Amino acid sequence: MTAPLSFTPRARLLDFMRQADEPGLINLAAGIPGLDALPTEALHCALETARTRDGAGLFAYHHPEGDHALRDLLAARLANRDVAVRGTDLITVTGCTQGLSVMISLLVQPGTVVAVEAPAYYGLLELLSAAGAQVLPLPLDGPHGLDLAATEAAFRQWKPRALFVCSSLSNPSGATLPAPARERLVELCRTHAVRIVEDDIYAELVDTGAPPPLRAFDDGSTVSYVTSFSKTVSPGLRVGFCAPGSLFEEFAARKCQWDLHSAVPTEAILREFLAAGFLDPHLASLRTRNQRRRAIALQSIARSFPAGTTIHEPAGGYMLWAQLPALIDLPAAAAAARTRRIAFASGNVFFANTPTTSCLRLNCARASEEDLARALQELGPLLHPTAQ
Ligand SMILES: Cc1ncc(COP(=O)(O)O)c(C=O)c1O
Repeated sequence: MTAPLSFTPRARLLDFMRQADEPGLINLAAGIPGLDALPTEALHCALETARTRDGAGLFAYHHPEGDHALRDLLAARLANRDVAVRGTDLITVTGCTQGLSVMISLLVQPGTVVAVEAPAYYGLLELLSAAGAQVLPLPLDGPHGLDLAATEAAFRQWKPRALFVCSSLSNPSGATLPAPARERLVELCRTHAVRIVEDDIYAELVDTGAPPPLRAFDDGSTVSYVTSFSKTVSPGLRVGFCAPGSLFEEFAARKCQWDLHSAVPTEAILREFLAAGFLDPHLASLRTRNQRRRAIALQSIARSFPAGTTIHEPAGGYMLWAQLPALIDLPAAAAAARTRRIAFASGNVFFANTPTTSCLRLNCARASEEDLARALQELGPLLHPTAQ
């Protein structure tokens, strides 16, 4: 098992974000869906209602913990997933990124041991590295997420302060923790005094509906919950929310120091979007869209990627995590792909340690269906060791 390590990130979030809107690029790298996946008409309608209802209030300061009615709607959604919280237990944030950043600022000092999935969301690793964390990579049990036996052994040996975990459709692995493992993981963390920071950003994209999050098995003393609507409604709104649990006051104070409160107009838009019942039909159409995109991608991959490539089809969402059968020179493959105007995310950026296999994360949701199929056909031959 890998010991906790401080590490230098292998890329920059800034560069990923800059690349995201590069014209003419078939972008299978950025973790964002295409513009046609956004519920633009419903959002315009919600904006209009918010404008009429809130008047000048739309442009004033508001409550530091966020729009009251929005937080009540969010609590009601969580109640449907067995999470007993009130609106007043929630704090809105500027994207899930801010939720993660605040949690890191509360939990991590230089040298603090923090457990993460291996692989883990790249942005999280960059934030942890900047905070000086000693990162403890925990192995996954394929599509089922964290290997709980290895997690327990690592907790005993290294005593981490916190575990950051994406419980559903983890980025980049696509893993979703099965229901029994959720309760066991929470118990394990409670026993070993490990604070869980649960990132739930992809859960609503699970094809069969969002499962109860880890927070459903806790009263907030072990699990702090962070999420946003970036993957389900709109990344540009930058609206997310947190249920910090017993860290509520510290979280609220830190967030208020950073930006007083999140932007009022976008919270009001999301409030009206939810109140009008736009979210569930939109999620249904996204799930169908994502299923179709995954099927197209898997077909192209089966035809052109090296034999023995492993992909566990995720339970939803639009990201595929491909493990190649042999180690290849990924930077060379990425450079060759770029000359064909294709970008993919190299797997090693999602690890604090050095991965033993060559992996790629492929986003199926951004390119058109035709571009997606064509790009993957072209990419496959570049991933054979003999191509290099
Ligand atoms: C697991 C995970 N958490 C957080 C984020 C960032 O979310 P936001 O855009 O809401 O800040 C992402 C974006 O890709 C993500 O994949």
